[in-house]
Amino acid sequence: MKKAGSASDPLWYKDAIIYELHVRAFQDSNGDGIGDFPGLISRLDYLQDLGVTCLWLLPFYPSPLRDDGYDIANYVDVNPSYGTLDDFRQFLDAAHSRGMQVLIELVINHTSDEHPWFQAARLAPAGSPARDLYVWSADNQRYKNVPIIFSDTEKSNWAWDEVAGAYYWHRFFSHQPDLNFDNPAVIEEVLKAMRFWLDMGVDALRMDAIAYLYERDGTRCENLPETHAAIKTLRAAIDADYTNRCVLAEVNQSPTDVRPYFGDGDECHMAFHFPLMPRIYMALRQEDRLPITDIMAQTPAIPDNCQWGLFLRNHDELTLEMVTADERDYMYLAYSADPRMRINVGIRRRLAPLVDNNRRRIELLNSLLLSFPGTPIIYYGDEIGMGDNIYLGDRNGVRTPMQWNPDRNAGFSTAVPARLYFPVIMDPIYGYQAINVEAQLSDQSSLLHWTRNMVALRKLFHVFGRGTLEFLSPDNRKILAYIRHYENPSHGSSETVLCVANLSRFAQPVSLNLNSFVGMIPVELLGYVPFPPITSQPYPLTLAPYSFLWLELQPAPESILPPL
Ligand code: BGC
Ligand code: CA
Repeated sequence: MKKAGSASDPLWYKDAIIYELHVRAFQDSNGDGIGDFPGLISRLDYLQDLGVTCLWLLPFYPSPLRDDGYDIANYVDVNPSYGTLDDFRQFLDAAHSRGMQVLIELVINHTSDEHPWFQAARLAPAGSPARDLYVWSADNQRYKNVPIIFSDTEKSNWAWDEVAGAYYWHRFFSHQPDLNFDNPAVIEEVLKAMRFWLDMGVDALRMDAIAYLYERDGTRCENLPETHAAIKTLRAAIDADYTNRCVLAEVNQSPTDVRPYFGDGDECHMAFHFPLMPRIYMALRQEDRLPITDIMAQTPAIPDNCQWGLFLRNHDELTLEMVTADERDYMYLAYSADPRMRINVGIRRRLAPLVDNNRRRIELLNSLLLSFPGTPIIYYGDEIGMGDNIYLGDRNGVRTPMQWNPDRNAGFSTAVPARLYFPVIMDPIYGYQAINVEAQLSDQSSLLHWTRNMVALRKLFHVFGRGTLEFLSPDNRKILAYIRHYENPSHGSSETVLCVANLSRFAQPVSLNLNSFVGMIPVELLGYVPFPPITSQPYPLTLAPYSFLWLELQPAPESILPPL
């Protein structure tokens, strides 16, 4: 008997709205200044009300927290600061009973150097199975052409270990040794950890840094065939024993290099679309749709059961690894005036500050997020327009406490403020007195209400998560226009939505060639307002600055009513 997941539809992830959050940052229940599972449980009503359907939790495992928990010291337990395994189970049940799925992190490329495996490995004799759980070398000359990801902190992918008397390999921080996937014991251990959470009922796993599992001479040690084989082994184990689960690949590579991670529908169900994200910001700043249409043209088709994961921001820097050197210079200039806003190869800012707190731009970008082919991922706090703190180290400036109300510590915690894991945002524009959930709930015009309405609207249609995409090419390049279309096999019905977005800060006219839809009526989805019928003439529209339209193309009433 396979173990069932909480979702009833095997393709649930295609219609999901994912909300990314950190337990530590969401709600503190016991006044120690650190968010925890009981706190998160107490905020599930809020998340349900927002309409999100899947909660992605950042790593919550025991960890020295030198990489905010991506440095794991035990794969099968909960960090005591956040609660107990029992608290996690209660959270999982509570989320499931609200119809929400749960996505957690499977960080298997590396562990913390405090993981007992590494502690044992450094003491074990060279060449022994215990030593070989990690990747060792007598010198630091191997794999010389492999890029350094955390370029601000690390000078090499090798670090010397005094105890072992050898170098060990790490693609990220030097306190995060890479596991050695050439050792079958590693896969066995990964399978055990994976099953531990899947048996409990976790619905989905984000495979962190999954491109780097193997190392081979003369390569960049990325996307190797051995890596794909290992992921397929994990997927086969899931398919053999569980139903309705999902694996999401974190692969920061070009669309053509990401494509193989879907396999023939037998590797990962989902993968983030990393290169699209910076190009959305480029298109906005250049007031030109080309960066978006160009990257989508380079995006290969994916198997039917697969899905892209779309995001505007996340817990990391806005990565610029997947743009050209010129584009990178442009992005740095346009979006990070202060050098403190930059880290590694990217920009460490939240959505609202990135777009100068301009409400129309925030809405425009979200309209793309919610109407592009894929599953949208909302980063906690962005639904209320939270700000960041570029004076905190690493990428912590975008990981500050959630702002619930104007009370002490933004309602996040009753601790003395100095005890909080990070200070709350306090500046006059983004500070918790100005930006918080409580205020926005009582304001019908708030970003929070807007986001909630848009999420609810998107959920009424299957076309956004499942349909095809076709760009129109009007002369005015400040206008991005596309048709989403979906034939629903189970109902024999179809949905067609025309999306039109104005990337410019000024009003723009546009004429669309809608010849394939002559006679149909575009109905604006937010207000259900019918627009003039489509004829064989170009269809004229005028768009206010940064505005967008979602128009459902419906058959004209005459054609659906029987003749009198
Ligand atoms: C995570 C980062 C983390 C890194 C190393 C990434 O993919 O998103 O936050 O620092 O993995 O674990
Ligand atoms: Ca706590």
